[in-house]
Amino acid sequence: MLDLAQQIQQLLVPRFQEQDLDPTLAEVRRCDRPDLGDFQCNGAMAGAKQRKENPRALAEKLMPASELFASTSIAGPGFLNFVLSNEALSRRAQAIAGDPRSGVAVSAERKKILIDFSGPNVAKPMHVGHLRATIIGDSLQRIARFLGHQVTSDAHFGDWGLQIGLLITAVQDEQPDLPYFRPDYAPENNLPESPVTMEDLDRMYPAASARMKEDEAYRDRARKATAELQKGRPGYLALHRHFWTVSQVALNREFEALDIHFDLWKGESDVNYLIEGVVEECRRKGVSVPSQGAEVIEVARESDAKSVPPLILVSSEGSAMYGTTDLATIVERCKEVDPDLLWYVVDQRQALHFVQVFRAADRAGYCPENRLEHLGFGTMNGPDKKPFKTRAGDVIKLHDLIQTCRGKALQKMDEAGLAGDLSPAEKERTALAIGVAALKFADLCNYRMTDYVFDFDRFTSFEGKTGAYLQFQAVRVKSLMRNATPQDLEGQIVVEHGAERQVVLALDAFSGALRLAFERRAPHFVAEHVYTLAQAFSSLWTTLPLLKEADPAKRASRLQLSRAVLAQLEIGLRLLGISVPERM
Ligand code: ARG
Repeated sequence: MLDLAQQIQQLLVPRFQEQDLDPTLAEVRRCDRPDLGDFQCNGAMAGAKQRKENPRALAEKLMPASELFASTSIAGPGFLNFVLSNEALSRRAQAIAGDPRSGVAVSAERKKILIDFSGPNVAKPMHVGHLRATIIGDSLQRIARFLGHQVTSDAHFGDWGLQIGLLITAVQDEQPDLPYFRPDYAPENNLPESPVTMEDLDRMYPAASARMKEDEAYRDRARKATAELQKGRPGYLALHRHFWTVSQVALNREFEALDIHFDLWKGESDVNYLIEGVVEECRRKGVSVPSQGAEVIEVARESDAKSVPPLILVSSEGSAMYGTTDLATIVERCKEVDPDLLWYVVDQRQALHFVQVFRAADRAGYCPENRLEHLGFGTMNGPDKKPFKTRAGDVIKLHDLIQTCRGKALQKMDEAGLAGDLSPAEKERTALAIGVAALKFADLCNYRMTDYVFDFDRFTSFEGKTGAYLQFQAVRVKSLMRNATPQDLEGQIVVEHGAERQVVLALDAFSGALRLAFERRAPHFVAEHVYTLAQAFSSLWTTLPLLKEADPAKRASRLQLSRAVLAQLEIGLRLLGISVPERM
């Protein structure tokens, strides 16, 4: 099913070809000047330049005639403007209304995509960087799947670095008698329960990490423990498992609340079995070289504007580094999934790391660089424009962030006198849905590379460009639909009024927005789209009677249009990870 811009483009392409012009010049887009048309094509000007011809004269020759148009015009130096006929808009609306995919075709070129996103760490609280990675990555996996791509998502748990050695050291100091530290530890000594809770880890990690900065001997112990863990010391491995389990239980609570799911919950440690082979192979192929007791892969290129340091494959203590596990993970992913694309949704501050890893993977022959993409993003800032912190200056925990948003949503619902007739349980659920929508939409409505300032009050507001506003519009249509009888909806969509035209044009733009979101790996095109659609519907609602329209044919037309809006809003919001409550 082609959208309106594509249908117009199809009329233009042969006319451009007749004039010996490049058909890509026939690109059609929404008109910048809605008073002049619904769509426009700017190709006549570029074509005229190529042919050294008068652009307006060329535009005359290029202008197609079709019953799609109510009128066409040539403006300025040669803009082709098109006003769609009500019949063409009615047909398009009917097609979208009858399509469970709301007018969006499955992509012709289906790809296998692996998305690495969220990347939480064992025992470290998830911070705002992880929140953005989680929200953006999830939306990208939903968008790619909806377009028909074959997606595998992996949380890529950070569980194999120095932080684990540090925790082992800290636990040893608090509970030296645990069996895990005995040199003769054997699997039958493993305790069924973890010796530490998530709260313990949460408390111990920051303290140990602060101590490591000052206490060199302590740092050396942590490093040694890391190296021993990686070499497979059984007691440490068992302790590592416990850290893993308690952390995962805690993280899952957050992912459940956010309605975010992964196909794979692999960790850095899961590729430990590959590391030795990777190191050996890189050495044998001459890809890695010794450097000051360590082993590194040179990845600098002459064309680099800024110098790119080598990737450290093995540290001077003999440990695998962050880049090493990432490299080994690429090996595993290519073997097990063989994706066409590997997307890494990770904070832009790690851009250099990914340049190193991707180049190293390419050099070692593990994966061509053009399949590897780092999809970075900016920071979520506090009112001081610095990465969001609590009042005490700590990184804010995801759990607290979600709960604060839920609380604010509850407060706003009460203030607005909403949800009066909801049961307490439904009210709680709705507040969580609104709170989560606030978090997600605030994030996704900005282009991912842009930093933004987080503002609880503004983001949970029912007015403005917010998740709650969008949910509210959708809920409004739901209640409209509940009040309509099946007979109210019997008939065809017949577009007559300006407000109806705007709704159809908005509905029509969905597939283009999704295409762009996928091409640019940027969910904000979808966020923008749902907002525009909600606004178009809102003006329909205020300008024309819907259920109250006396003429049954008109009533049916408008209600069907409203139902199509609801369907598309729900799909669009779902692609952003936002659910629509039944009532609010
Ligand atoms: N755990 C890492 C961090 O907290 C993020 C992991 C991102 N993914 C990756 N393959 N490196 O910074």
